[in-house]
Amino acid sequence: MKKQCFSAQAPRADMASGDVVICDDQDRLAQRAAAFVAERINQARPPHRFLLALTGGSTPAATYRQLATMDVDWSRTHFLLSDERCVPLDDENSNYRMAFENLLGRIPVGESQIHPVRTELSPEAAAEDYESLLRSLGDAELPAIDLVLLGLGSDGHTASLFPAQPEVEEHDRLVLATRAALATGGGPMRRVTFTLPLINAARGAAFIAAGTEKASTVSAALGAGSRPSVPAARVRPPGGVTWLLDKAAAAEL
Ligand code: 6PG
Repeated sequence: MKKQCFSAQAPRADMASGDVVICDDQDRLAQRAAAFVAERINQARPPHRFLLALTGGSTPAATYRQLATMDVDWSRTHFLLSDERCVPLDDENSNYRMAFENLLGRIPVGESQIHPVRTELSPEAAAEDYESLLRSLGDAELPAIDLVLLGLGSDGHTASLFPAQPEVEEHDRLVLATRAALATGGGPMRRVTFTLPLINAARGAAFIAAGTEKASTVSAALGAGSRPSVPAARVRPPGGVTWLLDKAAAAEL
């Protein structure tokens, strides 16, 4: 896997899959990650409908704000969430709310292009509903999402796939209901998440991770001896994985 140190001031147009891009700081990471997503969307040729799965958490907010300022043809992009907390869409813990405030509410897209998880349903029903939606949006039985954005927890989780949880071992379902506490504390929260079969059918995936607290997990996920216990290490779509990191998160590579 190629490793590039990048200042992110002049976005490269030849970003291949399987890269590790290390940016000087979180501001430059946001610029580079936004440029990466914009490149992928603008490279898609009409009439292809570009399926973009947004990640939740706090790290991507700066990337989304930067992306909202860029020259992108949004007309054929459809927005999904790679995971969601089972809370109302206007709840402060909603990944949809974070994505809307930082990106979706800032760009010219119609409601028909935005697909939040129906968190008004029970977690299990919401997961089944989302899976049906994905199958209807995709061109095949196993929908190939064009780009899945993912965050990384310091415990190695990604989306809402947590270490040693049964959902990590799922082989058939595309979307499942899970339960896990937020990194910010509090009791276990019901969630809906993409599964590895869905993520690993994607045309491409990209992690966006920053901060020293992620360094050991980035190393575990990327290391030659990637431990299968680290869910993020099991993200291996045929379209390749790109790791978009700041120097702090890349410190142990
Ligand atoms: C969620 C996220 C989760 C997140 C990581 C990193 O719903 O919590 O999807 O997978 O991406 O926990 O979160 P931070 O970016 O806040 O560190």
